[in-house]
Amino acid sequence: MKKIAVLVSGGGTNLQALIDAQARGEIVNGEIAVVISSAPEAYALERAQHANIPSCVLARKDYSSSQSMTIALVNKLRELDIDLVVMAGFMTIVTKELFEVYNNAVINIHPALIPSFCGKGAYGLHVHEQALAYGVKVSGATVHFVTEECDSGPIILQKAVDVLLDDTPETLQRRIMERCEWKLLPQAVSLFCQDRLKVEGRTVQILP
Ligand code: GRF
Repeated sequence: MKKIAVLVSGGGTNLQALIDAQARGEIVNGEIAVVISSAPEAYALERAQHANIPSCVLARKDYSSSQSMTIALVNKLRELDIDLVVMAGFMTIVTKELFEVYNNAVINIHPALIPSFCGKGAYGLHVHEQALAYGVKVSGATVHFVTEECDSGPIILQKAVDVLLDDTPETLQRRIMERCEWKLLPQAVSLFCQDRLKVEGRTVQILP
């Protein structure tokens, strides 16, 4: 059984999707062992509490640098014997120390079809504002392995939705969350826990 840590910063709707998938038995060979929040006020912590999942706060402001915060995070993950780190709406910069220990064992959900609308400044509602401003006809979500460079690790799963003429950033965000993010993340986590993700360079092969 692989042990999963979910890193959060805000509302935790993706955490909730993982909790609900776990309750339905859809996270094969994996269990959410801890929720770690970068913000003490994150509603995601309430979701963890309601699901009886242990949680803790690791706030960037309590550390002198991103590196010292990352080292504290890695120590916590190793102490808990974590196998998979899931960034679910996690908004804090982490440094290479995380990826040196958890190589191809950190995954992130991004609310666009990478390489579109990603990288520095492309987070939350800004992603959907950029997509609408560009005039794309489809957008969606991407689950990818996390590497030192933002939003650029090997892609695990993607799912697209149509962009509608009357979409606002809010309506597009909601549709991508409901139809893409909340489906893809549990799927990717389950595949990882079953050792069915084979990384070869930039590509990820899903094994039967
Ligand atoms: C979502 O759009 C997610 O794609 C992005 O952060 C936003 C909030 O996620 N990573 P959550 O509701 O806190 O899971």
